Amino acid sequence: MKPVRKVVFPVAGLGTRFLPATKAMPKEMLPVVDKPLIQYAVEEAAAAGVTDMIFITGRYKRSIEDHFDKSPELESDLAAKGKTALLDLVHSITPAGVNFIYIRQPEPLGLGHAVLCARPVVGDEPFGVILADDLIYTTGRPALGQLIDARAGQGGGSVLAVQDVPHEETNKYGIVDVQDPMQSTSCVRAIVEKPDPAQAPSDLAVIGRYVLEPEIFDALQSVERGVGGEIQLTDAIAALLPQGRTWAHRFEGRRFDCGSKQGFLTATAHYARLAGYEI
Ligand code: G1P
Repeated sequence: MKPVRKVVFPVAGLGTRFLPATKAMPKEMLPVVDKPLIQYAVEEAAAAGVTDMIFITGRYKRSIEDHFDKSPELESDLAAKGKTALLDLVHSITPAGVNFIYIRQPEPLGLGHAVLCARPVVGDEPFGVILADDLIYTTGRPALGQLIDARAGQGGGSVLAVQDVPHEETNKYGIVDVQDPMQSTSCVRAIVEKPDPAQAPSDLAVIGRYVLEPEIFDALQSVERGVGGEIQLTDAIAALLPQGRTWAHRFEGRRFDCGSKQGFLTATAHYARLAGYEI
């Protein structure tokens, strides 16, 4: 079984829900307390042993590249002033042995298309996908690492992070039907993107963490445009289900939907309290 060494971060989205804040700034750079969302995501991937961070970016996203690059003026200024703790903090953003790779997604054709853009760099290996606006707080192993462990437990295959959501919210998520809903890891029988509650096969929703086998790329290449006229990752996953090697894993941790203002503010309050602030 090949290890998971690469993670794809789709970050080309426009972030219109956070306008005006995101007019000239990527939504992934919005800070929860003092750290941008995308840095939480990269730290989660690094903690899972990932070495290649692959960002699918778009126009107006340059500050993400700058964030994960050296900052010579800042670093020499901090060094000259003896601010070693801050210097260490800046250095820790780009740990040694981790590669940062950027691919442009020329058109916003959907999550599936963004993942397909990573094909030339991912090649024939299993890989992770992290959607940075799903921030997952864990006290133990970070969420992506939990998926990697679940995959190892099944002897390979693709693994989707899932969680129960309120029935009336199924139309915001990919929803799965699994063989044994009582198990923490179970074989996926069906998956459908954003179904109306009346049509949803369950209330078990895909949250933004995936480990995917490279066969997904061929599937992505052949799926038609789906919900919203976009190339949906969910539809490509559905095409692979007959192989019986796709698992849903109920991860442990608290997920904050930082794609919504409410979720972002709840996350901010949570992380602020953890850091000792009164809120
Ligand atoms: C995407 C996926 C959806 C998944 C969700 C998790 O939707 O298409 O299947 O449940 O992420 O956050 P989006 O939130 O980008 O519309």
